Amino acid sequence: MAGDQRLRVAIIGCGGIGKAHATTLRDVPTTELVVTVDLDEERAKETALVAGSEVRWTKDAGAVLSDPDIDAVGVLLPNHLHAPVTLEALRQGKHVLVEKPMALTLSDCAAMIMEAEQRSLQLSVGQVLRFRDSLMFGRQVVADGQIGQPVASVRRRYARRGSATQRPWDFDTKTSGGLLYGNGSHEMDALLWMVGARPVEVYAHGGFLATEDERRGPTELSIMVSTDRGGSITLLMSRGMSQGAWDHWVVGTEGDMYIAGNKVSVCGTTHDKPLASNEDFRNEWTDFAAAVLENRRSAADARTVWGTMVALEAAKLSIESGRLVKASEVDSWELYEN
Ligand SMILES: NC(=O)c1ccc[n+]([C@@H]2O[C@H](COP(=O)([O-])OP(=O)(O)OC[C@H]3O[C@@H](n4cnc5c(N)ncnc54)[C@H](O)[C@@H]3O)[C@@H](O)[C@H]2O)c1
Repeated sequence: MAGDQRLRVAIIGCGGIGKAHATTLRDVPTTELVVTVDLDEERAKETALVAGSEVRWTKDAGAVLSDPDIDAVGVLLPNHLHAPVTLEALRQGKHVLVEKPMALTLSDCAAMIMEAEQRSLQLSVGQVLRFRDSLMFGRQVVADGQIGQPVASVRRRYARRGSATQRPWDFDTKTSGGLLYGNGSHEMDALLWMVGARPVEVYAHGGFLATEDERRGPTELSIMVSTDRGGSITLLMSRGMSQGAWDHWVVGTEGDMYIAGNKVSVCGTTHDKPLASNEDFRNEWTDFAAAVLENRRSAADARTVWGTMVALEAAKLSIESGRLVKASEVDSWELYEN
């Protein structure tokens, strides 16, 4: 830690999201971006320069991970690399903020959480939706009991046909996890976190569009989850719409809430919760740094994301098997927040 109590950070992975994190870190007073890492040195350099002239860049992740001058690492790599690089960073004594999805298997997630805890290190996941004002407000509405007990939630993420990302690792579900682990990890997390619930049973169906590359996995997902709070959660995702949609309903025993963009409507009254550029990423890093500096768990601590990863793994099995899957079939660890 720098003498002025700033977290000294390295980021590994300088693609699209690496640049957003680097820009953000420049604006978080409790962090100092020291070095950027990418196999593509030009990308590492560009990203370092975005963040400031004093930031170093390198291709050598190993040297950065063993550098005692680095306190924390942002793992911003293709999804299949989250687990191995996070585990190595933890073994080298670094706190880690890993992008979503935490990993592509529940056994990798368990190994990451256990490694962090054995070493008393913070492991957080980039569930950036948790740091948006509209969703934080909505979660408080539910926690305050303003709509009673949540009974049913629905979240839709409908993308326009042809809008899918074209990163090389998107074209193999072994490296990406497909739509389920890609944007599905944001959406499932928002649903469960909003109502503070754990998954119990999951039924999921995946479909393919004729216009999409099948190597990417299903492009149309319908996932239904029953929760330990007695309610249900439905996630609908598509890549085939001519008109996009991205919204969230929660129906409670005494009222309802609807969130779309920056607007949150609670029992018919609309609240505007504007989001400044990169504010969600700034909140994410500010919270992560505070968790490390104050030795407490962050709001996106890996254990609080466990239910999301259980639901995704159960959904994957349900899509493959065509049957309802109990969370207990895939989860032999139960690493929920304790
Ligand atoms: N929070 C969000 O809203 C959000 C948005 C986009 C992406 N993401 C996540 O961020 C991660 C990265 O996504 P992206 O869009 O930036 O991908 P990208 O393909 O644009 O960038 C990945 C970078 O990693 C580098 N890389 C690959 N293997 C490496 C290695 N072994 N060592 C060092 N560098 C290596 C590549 O050269 C590339 O520059 C993914 O996990 C994705 O899910 C999150």
